[in-house]
Amino acid sequence: DWTMDAYKEEAIRAIRAQVGDAHVICGLSGGVDSSVTAVLLHEAIGDQLTCVFVDHGLLRQNEAEDVVRMFRDHYNMKLIHADEAELFLGELDGVSDPETKRKIIGRLFVDVFQKYASEIEGAAFLAQGTLYPDVIESVSFSGGPSVTIKSHHNVGGLPEKMGLKLVEPLRELFKDEVRALGHELGLPASFIGRHPFPGPGLAIRCPGEITREKLEILRKADAVYIDQIRKHGLYDEIWQAFVAILPVRTVGVMGDGRTYDYACALRAVTSVDGMTADYYPFSHEFLGETATRIINEVPGINRVTYDITSKPPGTIEWE
Ligand code: XMP
Repeated sequence: DWTMDAYKEEAIRAIRAQVGDAHVICGLSGGVDSSVTAVLLHEAIGDQLTCVFVDHGLLRQNEAEDVVRMFRDHYNMKLIHADEAELFLGELDGVSDPETKRKIIGRLFVDVFQKYASEIEGAAFLAQGTLYPDVIESVSFSGGPSVTIKSHHNVGGLPEKMGLKLVEPLRELFKDEVRALGHELGLPASFIGRHPFPGPGLAIRCPGEITREKLEILRKADAVYIDQIRKHGLYDEIWQAFVAILPVRTVGVMGDGRTYDYACALRAVTSVDGMTADYYPFSHEFLGETATRIINEVPGINRVTYDITSKPPGTIEWE
């Protein structure tokens, strides 16, 4: 794409001009925005960039390994894998209120990021994958009615606290332009087209108390579900798809035994921007086959339901 190539060159020039020979820290989540930001910065300034990947233990199957393999091994970036699952899951132990979960995760995220970032010598800048809609949204939110449905966590306020200046190379772009830029930078299509994943991760897909056992079951069920969606060629038609593990166990039969395991809910929605959404109209064949696979392949689940709530009145996530 000619326009994106020109944009990329211009963005690289601007980054070099802004940071000079200073060091830059970038929070990498593995999502599209932070990944494109990191790769763009890496092209511009190479080893002057260190990425910090906060692993809260609430990621999907193989997610942490995939991120490390791609950025550290493939792109040769300086990457700190902040494996803090113990800390996050410890603080979340016994917590079931959704907003409390979000606050704990948001607070720890900032603490952990700050701890690792402060160990990076000579850092003067913090890179963020802020998009144009984020810029607009934060403006209209501060002037508009203060209705918070769910507190979104980010590292807001951190740059000032740490005395870092911001680098935001995606500030003028919309999501589809970020994807085009990612393509231009050679990021794999499978990465660029990934569904959004919330900052609090699996915590908000595990209503009620979070346990390691439930997270493990959830990861396996989610992996089977996404595999089904990809195999049926539906992934790109869907805005977001995931499994939520329900805080209830139900009775079932398997072979000649009685089971007493968790129920789960499949979620899949279409959407333009995540603000409104419709449930995805899977065929009954797809749903039946997927339920059978999950129950056969995922120990700990014996009942599968499909969530047909649109947004509004529901939200996309379960918490
Ligand atoms: P809801 O559940 O509010 O989600 O309909 C709308 C979109 O936002 C994502 N989401 C989050 N993203 N931090 C994030 O970065 C969060 O705390 C958060 N909560 C929800 C959600 O996955 C969906 O794409």
